[in-house]
Amino acid sequence: MSLARSVAAPAVLNIADLRRAAMRRVPRVVFDYVDGAADAEVTLRANSSVFDEVLFRPRTAVAAGRANLEVTVLGERFSLPFLLAPVGSTRLLYPKGEVEAARAAAAAGTGYILSTLAGTSLEEVRAGTHGVCWYQVYLVGGREVASAAIERARKVGYTALVLTVDTAISGLRERDYRNGIAQLLASNPFRKLPYVWQILSRPGWLMGYLADGGLMAFPNVVLPEGPMRYAAVAAALEQSVVSWSDLRWIREIWKGPIVIKGILTAEDGLRAADEGAAAVVVSNHGGRQLDGVLPTLRALPEVVAAVRGRLEVLVDGGIRRGSDIVKALILGARAVLVGRAYAYGLGAAGGAGVTRAIEILTADLHRTLRLLGCGALSELEPSMIELPADFGPGRRRLSGLADPGEATDPDRAGQAPATGIH
Ligand SMILES: Cc1cc2nc3c(=O)[nH]c(=O)nc-3n(C[C@H](O)[C@H](O)[C@H](O)COP(=O)(O)O)c2cc1C
Repeated sequence: MSLARSVAAPAVLNIADLRRAAMRRVPRVVFDYVDGAADAEVTLRANSSVFDEVLFRPRTAVAAGRANLEVTVLGERFSLPFLLAPVGSTRLLYPKGEVEAARAAAAAGTGYILSTLAGTSLEEVRAGTHGVCWYQVYLVGGREVASAAIERARKVGYTALVLTVDTAISGLRERDYRNGIAQLLASNPFRKLPYVWQILSRPGWLMGYLADGGLMAFPNVVLPEGPMRYAAVAAALEQSVVSWSDLRWIREIWKGPIVIKGILTAEDGLRAADEGAAAVVVSNHGGRQLDGVLPTLRALPEVVAAVRGRLEVLVDGGIRRGSDIVKALILGARAVLVGRAYAYGLGAAGGAGVTRAIEILTADLHRTLRLLGCGALSELEPSMIELPADFGPGRRRLSGLADPGEATDPDRAGQAPATGIH
């Protein structure tokens, strides 16, 4: 059976099926790099399980037609209310993985966000697709190195920059340590030896990987000595902490919209608005950074309420079904990003797998909307869900924090609420 057929319906009904297919095709070290998260993975699990706490209240006996799923984000029209999130090193999952994913996104009429830590150059990804591409920025290598990449992104037609602000240092991804990522990246073959079985047990993947050039560097992080090598990532991230002052120099060299990714509080949402960001992504990096932070769906209402339309609010984290997307939209997201949902597809079958992931989420969306009695995304409203009592602004009150609205007081904008627990 061909790889593409192996992810076709009805064998792969949901994203969990794609996850299992990816687990079978790629080495464990690669699968766990995608599937895993920081520390005890509490936030990873919470990101998904929080969707189960939000319950639908449908309108029945409504003859809702098939909804138009189009949304406008940063002035660009997308056919679907979800975009593909920046995921580093997807070329490990499948040859030219970034190009494959960007093409699948474009074919579905949605956008693709390329990570700074991609294995494929931003020019090659841009040339490989007719769709909308945004570029995600880490300051690895310093301002000059990032400026050069931003200039390259501008030249070839990326339309927005996504500045990720939650990666002051890499989270402790325990699975990566146990699977021997550091040893596999080491030049000494004896250090690799205990871990190579994972690679050898996936010969199909290995052939594709070698044909694609083997272990790659990062072509969008060009240091004086050449593209940054894989082994240098962790140290480079530590030396590349982003602060609000960086937003100011980035604004000088990038005239298009800037999205701040990694916001979890009203205070930081307001600060992003004050600094002139066009949008924020409420995100905890898929649970890969600070373990124990709140799941993003819980943070979303607080940020939406605080920014009061001053910028667009997107959200990511834990989205595995179209019904998850509907819940996020009802809670005020303009659109969502999906990370692992498409990365599993890429690992399972390259572009065909990403297409299948997009199809699954799209079919889920249509079905959920009709069962809710909604003929259009614009008909979604808060009364269509029931929230736990400690959700959103209620959660802030229980924590002794001020309501987000209070923080919009111009004198206090961007500062911690006076009643905060500091
Ligand atoms: C394997 C992997 C690599 C990632 N790499 C990046 C990255 O390079 N830059 C970034 O801003 N976010 C990165 N993320 C975070 C995603 O953009 C997104 O926030 C997260 O995947 C959303 O959660 P989900 O995977 O549950 O959908 C990565 C996520 C994963 C799973």
